[in-house]
Amino acid sequence: MGLIRFLRGAKLLGQTNEIPGKSLVEHAHAANVDIPTNCTSGNCGSCMVTLLSGDVSLPDPLTPGLDEEIVSEGARLGCIGVPSGDVEIDILPPI
Ligand code: FES
Repeated sequence: MGLIRFLRGAKLLGQTNEIPGKSLVEHAHAANVDIPTNCTSGNCGSCMVTLLSGDVSLPDPLTPGLDEEIVSEGARLGCIGVPSGDVEIDILPPI
């Protein structure tokens, strides 16, 4: 079972054990960390965070909230991205 850690810069905001099948936003809630959301369906980009290490699922095809370039910078969507294993997230978007 992985550990999901939420950071802002070098500061650890909170962490929680992996909850299989649950989104990053739900993990953040469990860790007492706030990730802003709006559409909760992968379209608006409000919940965009940066994947620092580990694995967070991506929609295929990419939803309007994401494009290839920003994904290559580490962007993931908190509302639909599901972490697996040990994951570190910066709660700010990559750009
Ligand atoms: S809340 Fe809109 S993309 Fe996640």
